Amino acid sequence: MTNDGDGMGNERWRAWRDDTPALTQYAYMNSGFSGPKRRATHAAVQERLDLELMHGSTTRFALDDRFELADRYRQTMGRLLGGASPDEIAITGNTTEGINIITNGLEVTSADSIITTDVEHGSGIVPAYYLRERTGCEVVIVPIDAQDSPGQAMESFVSSMGAANGNVKLVILSEISYSTGQLLPLKAIVDETHRRGGHVVVDGAQTAGHIPIDVRDTNVDFYAIPSHKWLCGPDGMGALYVREDLIPLVAPMKVAGRSAASYDFAGNFEPERERITKYELTTTSTPLIAGTLEAAEWFLDSGPEAVLARAQELNRYAEGRFGRIEGVSVVSPRHDSTRTGLFCFVVDDLPAADVNAFLQAEAKVVCRSVAEFNSVRLSLHAFNTEAEVDLAAETVERAIREGIPDDVEPAFPPAIFAGRGP
Ligand SMILES: Cc1ncc(COP(=O)(O)O)c(C=O)c1O
Repeated sequence: MTNDGDGMGNERWRAWRDDTPALTQYAYMNSGFSGPKRRATHAAVQERLDLELMHGSTTRFALDDRFELADRYRQTMGRLLGGASPDEIAITGNTTEGINIITNGLEVTSADSIITTDVEHGSGIVPAYYLRERTGCEVVIVPIDAQDSPGQAMESFVSSMGAANGNVKLVILSEISYSTGQLLPLKAIVDETHRRGGHVVVDGAQTAGHIPIDVRDTNVDFYAIPSHKWLCGPDGMGALYVREDLIPLVAPMKVAGRSAASYDFAGNFEPERERITKYELTTTSTPLIAGTLEAAEWFLDSGPEAVLARAQELNRYAEGRFGRIEGVSVVSPRHDSTRTGLFCFVVDDLPAADVNAFLQAEAKVVCRSVAEFNSVRLSLHAFNTEAEVDLAAETVERAIREGIPDDVEPAFPPAIFAGRGP
């Protein structure tokens, strides 16, 4: 698939846009938080809800449909992850649940070190700290600079792992950092971790629907993804890949019938060790499975390489446009080898949360701020346009020129800042 540079020349991106009603109202550049939904995705959810309404959820017809959708879900998520078997895919509620299955299910002791980075989301760093609280293990935090080349990032990993006091047990890593948009060299990190006897769990919240993922090529151990961000599927679904040979190593921490190989009421019980479904509890939402499937198939048909190429093209455009604004610094990667669709900038003397609020209130530009870097983050998906980037840039220029009114409505409700946020 080719891009002709005008941002709307590609039929696929035009079709994506045309099927996404929110884009007619907003310059929506917030897929890294939650992507705008297509009508077709909405219709897939609706269709299953209608089936449940008309047939009830437990008729043979509805149950057959449910199991068929669940099977297709494992197959499609396996394909999205680069050829994983359906037997390696657990159905989860989101990325964070997948990460927690791994961090809670591996046996970690005070002799171990957990390696993570200083550009992780709370869903990566907090599980690491909880592991330390519970087991007394060491947490080693690798410093990463957004302008690091893959080689420089790798050097930081090697030196931090080398300085660890315990056994390198587990690396918790965002393949794309939510705060800087940087793509990290997963394959090299996996190789180095394996050489030291450890495992890698990837926080793929920012990768699914955004870049090609290949768990076979990277030989990564565990990979957790969501539906609702770059895939533009519904909230509340996800998938966890566990390499088949490692399933016995990770015990399920929340358990129900499928976590047992057998049991009776005379006290006999055999835990399930081999099957990926041991991590799944009881009822999941079939309408959300149907919606996620539709969204994932659309992404795969769009071509993961083409989606990333278009997102990077928009990022380069944004770098050029914002780079010309006095008082603005681009803080996301400027090297193509680490560049993604996440574009981040800082405005001198203006709090990022206020700039974010001004963008939404004044120009219906939807994005988010990142508190750690006082930066504003635009998620540039394949369906976004150069015109939307221009609108954001012009609005920032206005904010710098005229100032931001004190009474501008915050982009997010207070609950998000009170720690209940994404
Ligand atoms: C890197 C990263 N990890 C985890 C999350 C949380 O994702 P989820 O809601 O799928 O658990 C987010 C975003 O909210 C994120 O950006």
